Amino acid sequence: MKPTVLLGSAQIPDTKTELKLYTHDGEFSIKIPGRGELMNTRVHGSEKALADLACERMGATKQPRVLVGGLGMGFTLAAALAAAGPDAEVVVAELVPEVVTWNRELMGAASGHPLTDPRANVYVGDVADLIRAESGAFDAILLDVDNGPEAMIRRENDWLYTIPGLEAARRALRPQGVLAVWSAGPDQMFKARMKHAGFKVEEQIVRPHRKGKGARHYIWLGSQSERKPRG
Ligand SMILES: C[S@@+](CC[C@H](N)C(=O)[O-])C[C@H]1O[C@@H](n2cnc3c(N)ncnc32)[C@H](O)[C@@H]1O
Repeated sequence: MKPTVLLGSAQIPDTKTELKLYTHDGEFSIKIPGRGELMNTRVHGSEKALADLACERMGATKQPRVLVGGLGMGFTLAAALAAAGPDAEVVVAELVPEVVTWNRELMGAASGHPLTDPRANVYVGDVADLIRAESGAFDAILLDVDNGPEAMIRRENDWLYTIPGLEAARRALRPQGVLAVWSAGPDQMFKARMKHAGFKVEEQIVRPHRKGKGARHYIWLGSQSERKPRG
């Protein structure tokens, strides 16, 4: 039997939680001890769909700017780069510095080394910092920083999914911009909060396995609603 090998450990900032990177039979997996697997290189259909669905819906611009939070194993970033065109800029925010290093040095081949693409810019830090700081800056914001609106890995991530966090995301978008949020499960309350923050909301259910079996992941796509002026 092929062994499972621990390649690295990293502390998630502001928490006592650790991420551990393992490899087994050519695949990689990041786990949180006691809580299970956060992601792996085997199954990533819904991470790709997050970028594909958002980029299909963002307004036509020659030089789109896309914000991805977080990097994880790079599948959403790679799909955003593939979908956003040759003149795009894709900013990826990743809170855990070691995750960036693991992508660069250990597991980047799994997603096609998106960090080496000159259109990709990495911000090592909290995606919330960029959302708070920017105004009318992005054609799409893609959020996959946690398990979904019920933050599992870091309590501070809750803010991103609150009405003030969603309003800040709306301000950070350009007028035809799209907010796309990934979740491991359904959440009617979150959909309602998106609407309250001024988004017109579309829900997509994505089967991450190629054969369409197993888990269902949820992606909410928020476009600018006519109803509420941008704050
Ligand atoms: C589920 S993974 C993302 C998977 C990614 N979509 C992919 O294609 O592999 C979540 C990532 O977000 C990072 N993260 C968590 N909170 C964050 C935050 N507030 N800002 C930026 N990155 C964050 C985690 O360290 C982790 O790498």
